[in-house]
Amino acid sequence: MLTAYDYPMGVLLDQAGVDIVLVGDSLANVVLGLPSTRDVTMDEMIHHTKAVRRGVKNALLVGDMPYCAYQANPKDAVKNAQRFIKEAGCDAIKLEWFDQCLEVAKKIRQAGIKVMGHVGLTPQTADQLGGLKVQGKDAISAQKIIDHARDLEKIGCFSVVLECVPTEVAKIITDKLSIPTIGIGAGKFCDGQVLVINDLIGISGSFNPRFVKKYANLSGNILSGVQSFIKEVKAGKFPDKQHSYTIDPQELRQLK
Ligand code: KIV
Repeated sequence: MLTAYDYPMGVLLDQAGVDIVLVGDSLANVVLGLPSTRDVTMDEMIHHTKAVRRGVKNALLVGDMPYCAYQANPKDAVKNAQRFIKEAGCDAIKLEWFDQCLEVAKKIRQAGIKVMGHVGLTPQTADQLGGLKVQGKDAISAQKIIDHARDLEKIGCFSVVLECVPTEVAKIITDKLSIPTIGIGAGKFCDGQVLVINDLIGISGSFNPRFVKKYANLSGNILSGVQSFIKEVKAGKFPDKQHSYTIDPQELRQLK
């Protein structure tokens, strides 16, 4: 699974053969330049998800419920989940664990919507977890994460994301669940893996946590491309003949 936030990336991920495309609420940080995933609105999520939908033809498309869509107002959760399906054309939604998670996820399931859970480090409520850090490093907190994942399976989630948990804990969860686990910073034993696309292709600046592997350095490519453009325009080298249009000389004479 990989994230996408616009049409061209949806097309590319689908062409590459990724199984699941997630329009993550990471949209807030990596695309909109907002300080927290809590800051992205439902309308912004729908706007970007619609664009990704136009590009994704084969992969499963999952819309990530932003904080305001279900945690701030649990009573609006079903309505907002339905927006992802009906307005944006998603196949499923994802939500992060929080106090009323099971209640809310159950209602969304009852509305016939497929739900992906998300446990371990849940960035929307990171302030209650001691910040953006690895979760489940002691037996008590690890057991909680295991229980959360099992509860989500019980109420009918089709998959669960495990974020920033020790490899051993992720293995226990993966072994215990019959639904697939998808890890991010959760080691190699998960059934699947997810990364934020901007991290994978190297356009997320200095953000470089341990779990990110940069498979490409697009920042470098973009910088050198743009610098070459500036240089050539200033030197009068671009546009050259090859990149310009001409008019028939006879037609031109009439103008003069
Ligand atoms: O918003 C997001 O990108 C996510 C993934 C990191 C799983 O939730």
